[in-house]
Amino acid sequence: MTQDQLKLSVARSAIDYIVDDGIIGVGTGSTANMFIDELGKNKHRIKGAVASSEATAARLRSHNIPVLDLNEVDSIPVYIDGADEINTYGAMIKGGGGALTREKIIASAAEKFVCIADNSKLVHVLGKYPLPVEIVPMARSVVKRKLAALGGKPFLRLNKDKNSPFLTDNGNMIIDLMGLEITQPAEMEEKINNIVGVVTVGLFARQSADICLLGTNSGVNVLVFDR
Ligand code: 5RP
Repeated sequence: MTQDQLKLSVARSAIDYIVDDGIIGVGTGSTANMFIDELGKNKHRIKGAVASSEATAARLRSHNIPVLDLNEVDSIPVYIDGADEINTYGAMIKGGGGALTREKIIASAAEKFVCIADNSKLVHVLGKYPLPVEIVPMARSVVKRKLAALGGKPFLRLNKDKNSPFLTDNGNMIIDLMGLEITQPAEMEEKINNIVGVVTVGLFARQSADICLLGTNSGVNVLVFDR
């Protein structure tokens, strides 16, 4: 199966985790997009969705799924999103699409995080995928130096034209930290979050997944994690 077929298989399986008459949190990225397309066929089952990015909000609206403001919502039974890497404890690297801050906020508000991923995302040690860190633009240089002191190589994320910095939906920049071997994700998450000027680090260890639907050639594996 291709990677896209594996992504589609988990996007379809995630429909089983929708809570009827509830509000669903929806992530960002190609796997989340496939999930949104499946959700479109089941929209009668939910009251609406909270979106983790402008792109996700637009795609939800294209299916006529009501997009709700997080501030108007009391409970989100489930949040469904992809990951760039996930380990065997449910800790993840996220933010390849730049939506890490809103993703982490919605995940923190949700009762359950269901990660949907193809099996290339499952790793023993996080860090091969560059770790995204959303930062306040004026703190760019100082944060870069502090991140380098942690042992990684920091790179400011650029737009596709390579001439301008990538900006998040929140108007911030992203530093991608390469070359880390993250053996203690929760400690690393706390350390990076404590750097002044950092908005959010794309390590989801304290905010890990409860369940991962992992697409493999022999079907969808359901990994359940203790939190
Ligand atoms: C976006 C994310 C995505 O979940 C992550 O990048 C995975 O994306 P894809 O489903 O396209 O592989 O964190 O900020």
